[in-house]
Amino acid sequence: MHLLALSGSLRAASLNTMALRALQKLAPESVAIRLYESIGALPHFNTDVEMSALPEIVAELRRQVAAVDGVVIACPEYAHGIPGSFKNALDWLVGMPDFPGKPVMLINTSPRSTHAQAALREVLATMSARLVHEADVAIELRNRSADEPEIVEALRVGLQAFVRACTEPRAF
Ligand SMILES: Cc1cc2nc3c(=O)[nH]c(=O)nc-3n(C[C@H](O)[C@H](O)[C@H](O)COP(=O)(O)O)c2cc1C
Repeated sequence: MHLLALSGSLRAASLNTMALRALQKLAPESVAIRLYESIGALPHFNTDVEMSALPEIVAELRRQVAAVDGVVIACPEYAHGIPGSFKNALDWLVGMPDFPGKPVMLINTSPRSTHAQAALREVLATMSARLVHEADVAIELRNRSADEPEIVEALRVGLQAFVRACTEPRAF
């Protein structure tokens, strides 16, 4: 199974990226998780550009999303919303034919940040993603390490549920 991990933060010391790296570490051998690291390099979304010549970096992101069984997202909240750079990345995926039905797992590293998670769910549902709610993980990572047993366990349980959902035939 192949999963793509998307972090909503560009910070080098991002807690969200840290959670995704922890998920990579604990994943069983049968589950390969690739962390996409070029969100900050994507151009601003523009339908004129999308319709004329799709930038290679966007085409590559779409190829990577199309190729995986599921997408894992860990995204922070900025001013009660989705960080602009991450929403920009999602906007580039809206017009992608393979996105509808794509299983998505959400990791929230700050459970008090409810606005961005709600907005993310709304955006992804509008994009016809398959939100795998039973795989959602909410873990407070501020002032904590992703190596703590309780956090590792929460991530492991979420990943197991996600892998199960990605493997099962879709229930419509
Ligand atoms: C510009 C800015 C706005 C923020 N707004 C909120 C907010 O509205 N609600 C919240 O819970 N946290 C807010 N935060 C805190 C971040 O969500 C938090 O620091 C998070 O850990 C950042 O993610 P990262 O560690 O992956 O970079 C804000 C942080 C910044 C820099």
